[in-house]
Amino acid sequence: METALERTLTIIKPDAVRAGHVGDVVKMFEANGLRIAAARMATLTRREAEGFYAVHRTKPFFESLTAFMSSGPALVMVLEGENAIARLRKLMGATDPAKAAPGTVRKLYAQSIERNAIHGSDAPETAAFEIAYFFAGIDLV
Ligand code: CMP
Repeated sequence: METALERTLTIIKPDAVRAGHVGDVVKMFEANGLRIAAARMATLTRREAEGFYAVHRTKPFFESLTAFMSSGPALVMVLEGENAIARLRKLMGATDPAKAAPGTVRKLYAQSIERNAIHGSDAPETAAFEIAYFFAGIDLV
């Protein structure tokens, strides 16, 4: 597989922050070749959550998802590394924690398919949109 230095956006979601798993998840990033290029704690407004998840606006879970995502502080980060997008997706595990592989963030820390501990960009185009949604170029170190 070809390697490329990439950036991806992750959110440690309100359920995982509330449960005190920030340190554990960040440790997993660093142990798996994902360097922190930017980080910000934020309690998203409902509008901010709706804008972020706009691609899901027609889904039946949209209302509940955006209420959950704006329910408390989250840690929004840009991660950088070789094939960072795929690397993070593998480390996160499947959306539904019941289907996530052992040792993944969601297997370890997610509560349900909605309250699933972490978000990660799924493709280069979404990573570009999601990084720009939260950070200016000058914020990336
Ligand atoms: P995420 O990877 O952030 O992308 C979209 C989010 O929608 C997903 O994680 C879950 O939090 C949520 N989600 C996806 N599928 C469902 C579902 N079937 N029911 C409820 N929430 C879902």
